Amino acid sequence: MASLDIELLEQCVPGLRLAFDAEALVAAGSDHTENLNFPPEVVVWPRSTSEVSDVLAWAFERGIHVTAAGALTGLSGGALPVRGGIAMNFSKMDRIIEIDTANHQVIVEPGVIVQNLQDAVAARGLFYAVDPASRGTCTIGGNIAHNSGGPRAVKYGVTKDWVLNLEAVLADGSIITTGANTLKNSTGYNLTQLLVGSEGTLAIVTRATLKLLPLPAHTALMLAPFESAAEACSAVAAIFKAGTSPSALEFMERDAVELARKFTGLAAQADGHAQAGEPPYEAVLLIEVDAATPDGLMPQLEAIAEVLAHEGAGELQIADDAAGQDRLWKLRRSVGEAVKAHCIYKEEDTVVPRGRLPDLLARVKAIGKQYGFKSICYGHAGDGNLHINILKGAPPEELSDEFWNETLPVAIAELFKFVVEIGGTISGEHGIGWVQKPYLPIAIGAREREIMAGIRQVFDPRGILNPDKILP
Ligand code: LAC
Ligand code: ZN
Repeated sequence: MASLDIELLEQCVPGLRLAFDAEALVAAGSDHTENLNFPPEVVVWPRSTSEVSDVLAWAFERGIHVTAAGALTGLSGGALPVRGGIAMNFSKMDRIIEIDTANHQVIVEPGVIVQNLQDAVAARGLFYAVDPASRGTCTIGGNIAHNSGGPRAVKYGVTKDWVLNLEAVLADGSIITTGANTLKNSTGYNLTQLLVGSEGTLAIVTRATLKLLPLPAHTALMLAPFESAAEACSAVAAIFKAGTSPSALEFMERDAVELARKFTGLAAQADGHAQAGEPPYEAVLLIEVDAATPDGLMPQLEAIAEVLAHEGAGELQIADDAAGQDRLWKLRRSVGEAVKAHCIYKEEDTVVPRGRLPDLLARVKAIGKQYGFKSICYGHAGDGNLHINILKGAPPEELSDEFWNETLPVAIAELFKFVVEIGGTISGEHGIGWVQKPYLPIAIGAREREIMAGIRQVFDPRGILNPDKILP
């Protein structure tokens, strides 16, 4: 790739905010994935679509790599500038441009933090349903890039289900819009959905029109402990089979609960259990229901409780007040960070048809036993989406670098093959990015990968956008 002349960039895009001091470069070179760092040569913070376009046109002409990033909370290294070049950070493009209450839509820039979007529309009686665990820090642009999900996906779907239309800038600097601000659209190829989940490898999103719902004003949360994690996983499909439709159905192994308790400093009773003398449990399900009126909650809770009793759950804890629910959600949302703070780990994001969740968990543990690693599992059980955190451990029981770098990938590949065999895939919501790229051929065939590479070539013939991601 061509060398990057920062002075020339400043001249060609006057007023562009940029930095190239060591601190800025190191910050732009890391996300939440493991301990990776790939500093770019310069970080730019565009403030408008036309600035994005000018930078891309400049870079395209010179064959300089450009990698877009939101809040860098990704878990597959998708926004890491692995080949240097320009890191384009969207934190300065964070305006909520228009909330359209008549049409239940919102137009946003990519740098808007998801929770800010949720709060802004809630103040107008509306609901943005996608709710990643990191909603307090992650951005809508990052969510679009990875087709993010989160706890409420089980009832409300993932990011793709809420994106109506995108404005994006192509590698050569041209600006496109992909659809229309309508609920229906049968007009040509669906470029909107092609860009969602493309991890900034096809184009850079600069504006999104999103669908909203009326706010479901009432929620209740139930915590169900199980003496066996396998039973907790089996209960998941039974809950849906009984005809109920929870707005979240999360699974946590006991170790996940305990690390999150320690990390957040939340007292044991915050998750419904007294620590001393608490009944033995191996895993919990966290089940949320929502309704437009308070009366709508109890029948759902009762129906689910009946299933849970039948499936072997222990004593249920119900949080119907906001404070109790917030505590439980805080605990659940912090598991990822709590594990990261605990020790070096690798996170897998496997997803299977939810009825196969017990098989997935059993296989994870069997492979762990066979190869000799410990894992902490949690995630969006209602979606069959299990986050598997494989721990490197701490001395004297730390796994060797040789095991970590050479043997573990073999074990992960074995697990992924099983996941695909049972109808699942290797990432539900964290994307392929950098770290899962070597495994993509397990899930996506050669012909299909060729089509993907062809699409990429059409969008970005010089291959400047987010190089070395997704496709091996
Ligand atoms: C979660 C993130 C890691 O579910 O996806 O907590
Ligand atoms: Zn998740």
